[in-house]
Amino acid sequence: MHMEGYKDRNTLSVMRNEIKESNSSLITHHSELILGIDTSCDDTSAALVADGNKILSNIISSQSDIHKKYGGIVPELASRRHIEMVWPVVDEALNRAGVSFADIDAIAVCHGPGLIGSLLVGCGFAKAIAYAKKIPLVAVNHLEGHIFSVFLEHSDIEFPFLSLIASGGHTSLYIVNGLGQYIELGRTRDDAAGEAYDKVAKLLGLGYPGGPIIDELAQEGNPKAYEFPRAYVPESFDFSFSGLKTAVKLEVQKSELQTLDSKLIKDIAASFQLAVVDVLVRKVEWAIVKKGIRRVTLSGGVSANSELRKRFAEMAKEREIELFLPSISLCTDNAAMIAAAGCHHFKAGDIAGIDLNPKAYLPL
Ligand code: KG4
Ligand code: ZN
Repeated sequence: MHMEGYKDRNTLSVMRNEIKESNSSLITHHSELILGIDTSCDDTSAALVADGNKILSNIISSQSDIHKKYGGIVPELASRRHIEMVWPVVDEALNRAGVSFADIDAIAVCHGPGLIGSLLVGCGFAKAIAYAKKIPLVAVNHLEGHIFSVFLEHSDIEFPFLSLIASGGHTSLYIVNGLGQYIELGRTRDDAAGEAYDKVAKLLGLGYPGGPIIDELAQEGNPKAYEFPRAYVPESFDFSFSGLKTAVKLEVQKSELQTLDSKLIKDIAASFQLAVVDVLVRKVEWAIVKKGIRRVTLSGGVSANSELRKRFAEMAKEREIELFLPSISLCTDNAAMIAAAGCHHFKAGDIAGIDLNPKAYLPL
């Protein structure tokens, strides 16, 4: 194999802890082996998943080092990096799983929503391999992938359930009535929750992605120091985070960035985080009551947040509902979730044509 130009094998984070059983036992006993590919945003990822929920490998090449100096993703740089990394990442995923293209039953690729230049790389790659190796191709919606990330560790969740996806690109609440049966209850009217985290981190000069940085700083801050607004958007399951972001901006301007000492930053981080989490928990609680659904799943990058996980766990206990969350490493973008969702499409005979075209806007 041609590996020239593949200089940063060490930028691949290999989720060894997610390889749940020995590879050989999985390979010999699986009924479906799916190669998942996700290049929707700023991470290049490939994974091998057997039977829809056994992760043989889940390789993620993060681009955050490239984008952090800009405080957000630069789409052109993201696409170029995907082109460099997609082959080495897929190769690594195959190697880690100990399989070759000949063992694969289908290639599941994310075809949207996302950055179009980034999606084109994954889709173009997947189509080329599918065509050359005569492997069925399956198209997976990124949001469906997030919903399925929960099934990777809890394969027995019963329907219906409420599913909150809180990520950098989306904040949406669904009723999931079955595989492929999604009713959107609400979505953000402006910024996604993760986007708000990233923008606030930028305002505070903290780097990208902002979520994990704010999460950590908030541990030492006072969440009651600032009374930031919570947009509950009455009588609706919609969300809104842009007002909160503006309120933080005004506070930062008042304090003047230069004089922001670390205590102030930690207090702002903790107060901002509390406002985000309050809204997310309250909205889901309202949906539980209104819809009478007592099973909830969380997914997307923001569901890695420690305060969010704690508060949802408390709420679930108090209301005696079932709560399912992915492990932290499966909350953020990864191809295992694409393979998991792809497996169900494959089993349903839902095969994509070689004319598959990604879409930046692709509602579930
Ligand atoms: O799901 P994801 O990897 O990509 C999208 O589909 O958007 O989510 C990335 C988002 C980023 O905005 C990032 O700041 C946020 O998830 N995030 C977090 C945490 N970890 C990642 N937000 C809050 N707390 C975290 N611990
Ligand atoms: Zn995502």
